Amino acid sequence: MTRMNKSNPFSLSFGKEPVSYIARDYQSGEILESFDSDNPSYQVCMITGVRGAGKTVAMSAIANILAADSRWIIVNLNPERDLLRTLAAELSNRKELFELFRDAKINLSFLGFGLEIDGEPPITDLVVALRRMLEKLTKSGKRILITIDEVSLNRQMREFASQFQIFMREDLNIFLIMTGLYENIYELQNEKTLTFLFRAPKVELKPLSIPLIVQKYREVFNITEDEALSMAKVTMGYPFAFQVMGYLKWREGGNKPLEELLPQFDTYLEDYVYEKIWSELSKKDKEVVAAMCSAPSTKVETIRSRLKMPSNSFSTYRKRLTKKGIVRSPEYGWLSFTLPRFKEFILRQEEIQ
Ligand SMILES: Nc1ncnc2c1ncn2[C@@H]1O[C@H](COP(=O)(O)OP(=O)(O)OP(=O)(O)O)[C@@H](O)[C@H]1O
Ligand SMILES: [Mg+2]
Repeated sequence: MTRMNKSNPFSLSFGKEPVSYIARDYQSGEILESFDSDNPSYQVCMITGVRGAGKTVAMSAIANILAADSRWIIVNLNPERDLLRTLAAELSNRKELFELFRDAKINLSFLGFGLEIDGEPPITDLVVALRRMLEKLTKSGKRILITIDEVSLNRQMREFASQFQIFMREDLNIFLIMTGLYENIYELQNEKTLTFLFRAPKVELKPLSIPLIVQKYREVFNITEDEALSMAKVTMGYPFAFQVMGYLKWREGGNKPLEELLPQFDTYLEDYVYEKIWSELSKKDKEVVAAMCSAPSTKVETIRSRLKMPSNSFSTYRKRLTKKGIVRSPEYGWLSFTLPRFKEFILRQEEIQ
C-alpha cells in the first residue's frame, strides 16, 4: 500500500467538512425538505448537540446542498458581530445581486454599501434598506439562507432574531439555521421577545450510523468486517471519535490492533472535548455523572439511591444531561452515556475520587 505518500483521510479539526464524511440524510433531509418546498412548514431551525457532535459540519452540509441551486443565496454570519449590518453588507456585495438592486433603485450609499444611484435618495435606515433588498430578492424568486454557528444570547442575537421574526411575518423568503450547545439554545428561546424560537424545530444530532462507519473504515483500511465493526462500536457513532479512531489507525500504518490504539484514542478525546465538557458541568451534574460510574448498575433507581436524591430533582438533572447529549436512556428506567469511553474518563477525574 502507498499509504505513506497519502495524507491522512481523517481529521481532528473542528468546524470543517472532513474528507471522510458520513451522511446524515435522515436528519438533514427533513430541514432541506421544508426549506426547499413551495410552502415551507418552518423557516428557522436550530441544531444542537454536545461538543464534537458535528453541528457545524451538519449545518455546512445543508448550506452546501442548497448553494448548488442558484435560487438560494447563503450568508454565514458571525454571532459576535452586528448581524443586521453584516447581512446588508454581504447581500449588497454579491456580484450576482448587484444588478437586481440597481434595477430596483436601492441606493445604499449612505450606509456605506453599494454604489450611488443617480436620482434616488439614499436609504438612511439599515432595516429599511434590508427590507427593500429582501423584498426585491423575494419577488425575483430568490431564497436567502442565513447560517449562524455557535449562538448564545447576546445583544446582537436578540436584535437580529427579533427583526428576523418581523421579516418572516412580512412573507419574505428568509431562512435561518443556527447551531449551539443545548444550554445556549435554551437560553435564547426562553428570552421573552424571542418566543417564536420556542416553536422552531430543534434538531438534536443523533450518533452517526454504525453500518456506514464500518463501510467507511473498510473502504480506507484493508480490514475485515469484524475488525471494522469493533472499531466502529468503540466510537459509538460519536463523530469526533469516528475521526480520531480513523486518524490513529492510519497514522499507525493500519496494522496496530484496536487495544493498542485505545490509550491514544482516550487522550485525544480528553484533550479535545471531554475536559471542556466536564468543566462546563455544574457541581450537581458532575455528582450525577459520577454516581453513574460508581453505582453498581446504571439503573435509575440504583443511581438515585446512591445520590440520596429524591425522584423529582433527579429527573431534572437527568433531563438536562440528556438534552445536552451526554446521557441517554437505552430502555425505560436505565441510563447510559452517549459518549465513547466517557465513563473511563470520569473515573480518571480527581474530583470524584
Ligand atoms: N457527518 C460527519 N461525518 C464524519 N465526521 C464528522 C461528521 N460531522 C462531524 N464530524 C467530525 O466531528 C468533529 C466535530 O465536528 P463539528 O466541528 O461539526 O462539531 P460541533 O458539534 O460543531 O462541535 P463544537 O460544539 O465544538 O463546535 C470534526 O472532527 C468533524 O470532522
Ligand atoms: Mg461547531
